[in-house]
Amino acid sequence: MEKNFKRTTVTSALPYANGPVHIGHLAGVYVPADIYVRYLRLKGRDVLFIGGSDEHGVPVTIRARKEGITVQQVVDRYHSLIKDSFERFGISFDVYSRTTSDTHHQLASDFFKKLYDEGKLVEQVSEQFYDEQTGHFLTDRNIRGECPRCHAPEAYGDQCEACGATLSPEELINPYNAETGNPLVLKETKHWYLPLDKDQEWLEKWILEEHKEWRPNVYGQCKSWLDGGLRPRAVTRDLDWGIPVPVEGAEGKVLYVWFDAPIGYISNTKELCDARPELGTWETWWKDEETRLVHFIGKDNIVFHCIVFPAMLKAHGEYILPDNVPSNEFLNLEGNKISTSKNYAVWLNEYLDELPGRQDELRYVLTANAPETKDNDFMWADFQARCNNELVAVYGNFVNRALQLTQKYYDGVVPACGELTDYDRETLAEFDGVKERLEQLLENFKFREAQKEAMNLARIGNKYIADCEPWKVIKTDPERVKTVIYISLQLTANLAIAFEPFLPFSSQRLREMICMEDFSWENLGSTELLPTGKQLAKPSLLFSKIEDDVIQAQTEKLAATVKANEEAAYRANPIKENVAFEDFQKLDIRVGTVLECERVPKMKKLLKFKIDDGLECRTIVSGISQWYEPEALVGKQVLFIANLAPRAFKNGLVSEGMILSAENFDGSISVTTVEHPVKPGSQVC
Ligand code: MF3
Ligand code: ZN
Repeated sequence: MEKNFKRTTVTSALPYANGPVHIGHLAGVYVPADIYVRYLRLKGRDVLFIGGSDEHGVPVTIRARKEGITVQQVVDRYHSLIKDSFERFGISFDVYSRTTSDTHHQLASDFFKKLYDEGKLVEQVSEQFYDEQTGHFLTDRNIRGECPRCHAPEAYGDQCEACGATLSPEELINPYNAETGNPLVLKETKHWYLPLDKDQEWLEKWILEEHKEWRPNVYGQCKSWLDGGLRPRAVTRDLDWGIPVPVEGAEGKVLYVWFDAPIGYISNTKELCDARPELGTWETWWKDEETRLVHFIGKDNIVFHCIVFPAMLKAHGEYILPDNVPSNEFLNLEGNKISTSKNYAVWLNEYLDELPGRQDELRYVLTANAPETKDNDFMWADFQARCNNELVAVYGNFVNRALQLTQKYYDGVVPACGELTDYDRETLAEFDGVKERLEQLLENFKFREAQKEAMNLARIGNKYIADCEPWKVIKTDPERVKTVIYISLQLTANLAIAFEPFLPFSSQRLREMICMEDFSWENLGSTELLPTGKQLAKPSLLFSKIEDDVIQAQTEKLAATVKANEEAAYRANPIKENVAFEDFQKLDIRVGTVLECERVPKMKKLLKFKIDDGLECRTIVSGISQWYEPEALVGKQVLFIANLAPRAFKNGLVSEGMILSAENFDGSISVTTVEHPVKPGSQVC
């Protein structure tokens, strides 16, 4: 398994140019990728870090329609915004290009053409939903209609959110265009498919047997896709934004965004290498067996990077396959899902403007709290605590003491090391395995633990200088202080190296303060980094406290967004037209006592209730399992509509009525109940 690679190509998922990047993207993909690349560079390895914007696909076209501007304007705007924010944040791409570039259009088009010419794609005519009024075929997500299972009125073409059923658009009853509301018709159209079914065997061997070292979340997702059996996937779409399908008779069709975007990694490498011949040809970085390819992605991208893209590369025939695909889980924000469309996020560009000069603080917290093995939460209070209690109080404090004392006692010149005490030796011994431990963790993509290890070194320093109390000892034993400061300075220099991949801005400043020219990973662990007699520069604080008002401004901003969303939801759902009292009376609403409640196999949104309605026991099915543990509802008295016509589900289940629940503005559900117990069957009036 351990191969000796000569160079590493590191890619990070190309963000859609339909909005700015937020902390979820950073924690999931860009910060870990940047740590990894900076580490490799510091080690002197040959590495390229490839990034860029994903400018095709449906999301950018939706954004354009919403904002009333052209798609080109959308991608231009967000591409520059994203590129600029990454740069300010210190994400050290070697290239950050875009999938609308000429190089990319050419390369992606040639890639497709080669597969097409060699008969590696399957051509198939199928019927797809078409909006005759706009003249467009629709994607699954843009088709809505009545769910064939639970009859919810607004199921999506790929899934019903009410009952959780996975659907295909043809199953919907009365399908319509989600954006225009127009009814849809089926129309024949021709597309090209990647026959993934034929890749099943080698993919199973390659992933399940040869890449057992991939992160469990990645391996597990691949396994479940493979166990489900791979099916051919369309790699073209009927859209007018994208790379034209380079085949005769394919007018009005473009390459599917997930076909062209990963090829963008290759195109961007080509653009870089063409401009900088000293890096070698782009082919060395993509076709040479001695190149190691690593994709950093978010968990929603796993299937494309582990199954589809490798199948494309293999079909093409000239390319290497990824050696690892480190993928993170999701980051939530203050307990809620981050959402671009709801504007609920911490946007990188706004963070950089509102907390200027605090890049490392955010990098630190996102890594300390990285969603490496499970979803995690970003909390502003935690951000403040980690900055103040760890960066300021430990790392910053130690370095500042060491440097200030050097100034004060020795005019900034590194003193000579005298005789070592046992405690000195113990402290120095902590340096011993640090390089190896860090390497072990970084090579295995365990960035969170690696950063902890670096911080631990700072803790050791902080404790050492506090225990030795040089500011007291100076009066009684000035020789001893020289040794203490000498050791503290060596630790400081080590910290500058160890933290460089994680906190590059403060490492750079620290490095300038201690005038460290020779700055390489190999020196990590050395206790002779700053020689006696060396003149250091004037120190300044490495970190400063984050005050309460800064945090408060941020949490208030989020609260304002939540409020605005709630108001918008209310406006979008105004009070309905008046009804006559007689009409209201037709509804028979009663109180029932929940006797039993359980989940429904295969319909993951549903709970099945047995309700005592006063006379008998009736079954009611309700799509609220996301919000309640079934046991928690047993014994509760709930309001239900007793005279609603029974509704049948596909699996034979019949619901005899409907439990009333309130839908909160954030979409969460609260079941209605009575203020004090009443007899089951009591009427609500
Ligand atoms: N734009 C996609 C997303 O944000 C990621 C594309 S990654 C690439 O989910 F491989 F296709 F480039
Ligand atoms: Zn349904």
